[in-house]
Amino acid sequence: MYVKGAPCVVFVVLTFWCGFPVFSAGFATFRNVTPKVVQEKLIWIKGQEEVSLYRIPIISYTSQGSLIAASEARKYSGSDHGPKFLAVKRSTDKGYTWEPQQFVSDDGSIVKDGLNLGAILSDDEKGIMFIFYTMCAHYDHCDTSTTHVIRSYDDGVTWTNSFNVSEQIGTRMFAPGPGYGIQKKLPPHVGRLVVCGHTSKRGMVCVISDDHGETWKNGGYIKSIPFKQPTKAGDFNPNECQPVELPDGSIMINMRNQGHYHCSCRIITRSFDGAETFSFDNLYFDEALIDPACAASTLYHNGVLFFVNAMSTNKRENLTLQWSYNNGTTWSGKLNIFPGYSAYSAMTAFSNSLKYGDELYILYEKGQNSANSMDSLSFVRVALYG
Ligand SMILES: *[C@@H]1O[C@H](CO)[C@@H](O)[C@H](O)[C@H]1NC(C)=O
Ligand SMILES: *[C@@H]1O[C@H](CO)[C@@H](O)[C@H](O)[C@H]1NC(C)=O
Ligand SMILES: *[C@@H]1O[C@H](CO)[C@@H](O)[C@H](O)[C@H]1NC(C)=O
Repeated sequence: MYVKGAPCVVFVVLTFWCGFPVFSAGFATFRNVTPKVVQEKLIWIKGQEEVSLYRIPIISYTSQGSLIAASEARKYSGSDHGPKFLAVKRSTDKGYTWEPQQFVSDDGSIVKDGLNLGAILSDDEKGIMFIFYTMCAHYDHCDTSTTHVIRSYDDGVTWTNSFNVSEQIGTRMFAPGPGYGIQKKLPPHVGRLVVCGHTSKRGMVCVISDDHGETWKNGGYIKSIPFKQPTKAGDFNPNECQPVELPDGSIMINMRNQGHYHCSCRIITRSFDGAETFSFDNLYFDEALIDPACAASTLYHNGVLFFVNAMSTNKRENLTLQWSYNNGTTWSGKLNIFPGYSAYSAMTAFSNSLKYGDELYILYEKGQNSANSMDSLSFVRVALYG
């Protein structure tokens, strides 16, 4: 994919747009990728263990080399509200096999608006895993919304009881992700933990921790327009989102455009102070990333920015991976993963491991037909270099 209207030869001096296999831009070295799906496996299927529906996939590497996947196990119906378990699966062999699922949190049997996922986060410096979820994410069913976190200090084998983060960040609704939080690797604020999500009628917001998750505070916003008022189609309403750290230490946020404002495509912004502030000056709409207003994922991995979503302006279908060698300025290629029913997706990779850094792992909602449009959560292994 070249810049529209400009022939490739114009860019021969820049070489990498024209497919040279190795390129160094001074900030990061990368090899051109040739992604291929090498394995796909359903790891949660509706009805398993008497759970009505598994939804909202999230997945992360751990610093010890495992993969942790989590989902909402919706007990009695597929509704966003209602009682749920937080289901976790762990793999110690890069997703070839998965340990039996654990229900690491249970909101009971009568709750009107139960736990909603969520964000998973690896503190690589301390080897701690976190999973964030929200209780009462939809005010029409309950009064006070709270955000909770569970932790694992043993690589996801056991999980703590939940800690009520709302005691620190307040009780305005905060729905993290769905996706992963990040730990800053580059200045400013090396080691900072950042989790971003959306708030009811207020837009996108991040929470940050500078003490490995002991205390959390509110970071920057991208406010919706209107703000704190009922929203409708066409409004500027940034919703579910995923942060990534770019090579200059800035944080890029890729957001669901709930109101289809300006386009049926993703909203992108960047923070240069570790998610403390976001400015409209850095906000744009990426028209190449068409989206039906659905949760998607993005990942910066070995010098390449990846994006995966249901690539359609109006339907949850057509799961597609795209990649960019210039931080999302242009997208150089795409790989169709599943043309049929596909909705929320999550993505991870082992960033610091040469041995396994040549794969991406995607977990997405996959369906067979319109009546069962997201009846399973499917794990996909993508080989990046063919
Ligand atoms: C969590 O903390 C908030 C804010 O202090 C409080 O309103 C809420 O009741 C707490 N929830 C639980 C379950 O402890
Ligand atoms: C990508 O972003 C980095 C900073 O994060 C910048 O140094 C670099 O020039 C950008 N690359 C391209 C090709 O835009
Ligand atoms: C479906 O995805 C492919 C790439 O995977 C893309 O080329 C195509 O335009 C998409 N279809 C629709 C209807 O958007």
